[in-house]
Amino acid sequence: MSKTIIITGTSSGIGFVLAEYFGKKGHKVYGLSRKHTESQYFRSIPTDVTDNNAVQQAIAEVLKTETKIDVLINNAGMGMVGAVEDSTKEDILKLFNLNLVGAVQMMSAVLPKMREHQFGQIINVSSIGSEMGLPFRGFYSASKSALDKVTEAMRYEVYPWNIHVCSLHLGDIKTNIAENRMRTKVSDPYKTIFDKVYSLMNSHVGDGTEPLVVAEYINSLLNKNKWKAHYYFGKFGQKIGVPLKWILPQGTYENLMKKYNKLD
Ligand SMILES: NC(=O)c1ccc[n+]([C@@H]2O[C@H](COP(=O)([O-])OP(=O)(O)OC[C@H]3O[C@@H](n4cnc5c(N)ncnc54)[C@H](OP(=O)(O)O)[C@@H]3O)[C@@H](O)[C@H]2O)c1
Repeated sequence: MSKTIIITGTSSGIGFVLAEYFGKKGHKVYGLSRKHTESQYFRSIPTDVTDNNAVQQAIAEVLKTETKIDVLINNAGMGMVGAVEDSTKEDILKLFNLNLVGAVQMMSAVLPKMREHQFGQIINVSSIGSEMGLPFRGFYSASKSALDKVTEAMRYEVYPWNIHVCSLHLGDIKTNIAENRMRTKVSDPYKTIFDKVYSLMNSHVGDGTEPLVVAEYINSLLNKNKWKAHYYFGKFGQKIGVPLKWILPQGTYENLMKKYNKLD
């Protein structure tokens, strides 16, 4: 059955691959990002998801041709690297404004239509890194973690209308996220250690999973009747970090994280 699917962040990376994948499958796909994207498989509606008026207008545009919205994939997002100490209020607010507030505005805009049709599926694209404070990505972890908590709360609020919400925690995926990250200034005390961690995190993205595999995984989620609150997708070595955090003594876990991030 053809679904109406709205995906944010479709001008590059995971979002573009998702939009083409679901379009090719015969779904009606609308892609929202600031840059317009030409594709025969989905319709691009240039939208800044941090601007609530623009979000409302984009949804109104979709509803000129559609009578329902089945799926929202809140994928637009940005990374941010730098030491906690060096991060400015402006940087932090800009990141949360996209990774948290933008996603919430999108959900608020589609929920009335989903409620009317007594059906909806919302996937909030999160990160495995939301489950742990990553070195030099503390605010990225925190912004995705905040979105996870909102996801958990919303599940109780919207289930009476058969609306399903989940967090999809991704490991490293091969996209342009490294080039598109915000980077705070790096002050002298952190320079050496930051450079090591920074080049490592970029190499992890370069060696990451292909976005098409994420699309196949999301397709399998959309075919499920019941959703859990959290799904973890990525390489075993990254996914295992989540249960290990709860199983291992805290000191042992931190030592493992130091080794993984080449801090030792
Ligand atoms: N790649 C990874 O390793 C990885 C791992 C875990 C989680 N994730 C998450 O996966 C999602 C997609 O990331 P990606 O790797 O595909 O990164 P990407 O290639 O940098 O794509 C980011 C997308 O977000 C859009 N975007 C940014 N600001 C926006 C705004 N204000 N309004 C609307 N769209 C906006 C960008 O389009 P415009 O610039 O045209 O607006 C772009 O299409 C993000 O939420 C990211 O945090 C990625």
